[in-house]
Amino acid sequence: MHISWDESVAEKGKYEHFMLKEIFDQPKAIEETLDRNLSDGGRVSLYDMTLTKEDFAKFNKICIVACGTAYHAGLVGRNIFEKFVKMPVEVDVASEFRYRDPFVDEKTLFIAISQSGETADTLEALREAKRKGARVLSIVNVVGSTVARESDDVFYTWAGPEISVASTKAYTTQLLSLYLLALYLGDLRGTISEEYYREVVSELSEIPEKLEKVLTLRGDIEKLAKKLYDRDQVFFIGRGMDASVAYEGSLKLKEISYINSFAIAAGELKHGTIALMEPTTIVVALATQSKLFDKMVSNIQEVKARNAHVISIAKEGNTAIEEHSNETFYIPECMDEVSPLLSVIPLQIYAYYVAKEKGCEIDRPRNLAKSVTVE
Ligand code: G6P
Repeated sequence: MHISWDESVAEKGKYEHFMLKEIFDQPKAIEETLDRNLSDGGRVSLYDMTLTKEDFAKFNKICIVACGTAYHAGLVGRNIFEKFVKMPVEVDVASEFRYRDPFVDEKTLFIAISQSGETADTLEALREAKRKGARVLSIVNVVGSTVARESDDVFYTWAGPEISVASTKAYTTQLLSLYLLALYLGDLRGTISEEYYREVVSELSEIPEKLEKVLTLRGDIEKLAKKLYDRDQVFFIGRGMDASVAYEGSLKLKEISYINSFAIAAGELKHGTIALMEPTTIVVALATQSKLFDKMVSNIQEVKARNAHVISIAKEGNTAIEEHSNETFYIPECMDEVSPLLSVIPLQIYAYYVAKEKGCEIDRPRNLAKSVTVE
């Protein structure tokens, strides 16, 4: 059974599609999630969380499980949890996790991520983890959903209703929830310094304003989409957290424009995918991670040497990338750790305008459903 979308509960307002409205809803959604979980003193306060310091001392690993876009949020979450909570973190797609006899027990903190809270594979993975004794914490958008009801603790994302099948604001609020949770758990475990904690909170608080700035790229991205919409092969590359964002950018493009898009960690290009580069290929290259910037420039040079058309996403000030790219879009300067919250936005807008140019049914792509309640 598929749960169909319901337009009656939401309005598109001045926007032509729900997807575009939801892209532009993001500063507000992020602000809402921040407001609900940050105290005036800049501490993450999760009033309903029952997980204690003592409980936490028992865990020896974190296991994040989800599907689709929520899985891509989980990939970013792994980097954040490893950094803030200093614990082994596994991330898996729910449909794989369930069938591979995962090593999960009462020392596992199991985190399920789901916008709808009804995805069958995620729900069954959660049940399997519970049977094995894991503690279950879920990150969910729909209040009272089955995943939320069956979890020991719930972190709500407060994105508001998301109608478009292609997820946008649910993704960014899932990311934010992972940052807030990692700060909370890192603090509980004593694995994050006070100074770093404050720095991350301050960076997160600036995200709504920076998002507004990224959204002003809309006109330029629309022009680019008009120029390149008929290309039939698009690759998304990045390193570190940028690779995780690349997966999400690729999924957005393929699900609404039906273009054959593919994401890969840039360092892996040379092990096969570079053979596919042709003059008509588009490569979207994310280069927002300072430590990995030079490596990304080398990867961009490699694909450029095969005549691919390169669209780069970098942080303001990193103009060195322009020389190697056909187009560059800049996100505002920010701490590397929080850049996924900003760098995904140009990719969402690009997917939207390519699909629009191709005349696709953006909010209801063929063969896809908002919530997949079959296994
Ligand atoms: C479907 C939707 C995706 C979503 C995935 C997981 O495939 O089309 O947008 O990411 O399910 O959904 P969930 O509700 O569990 O986040």
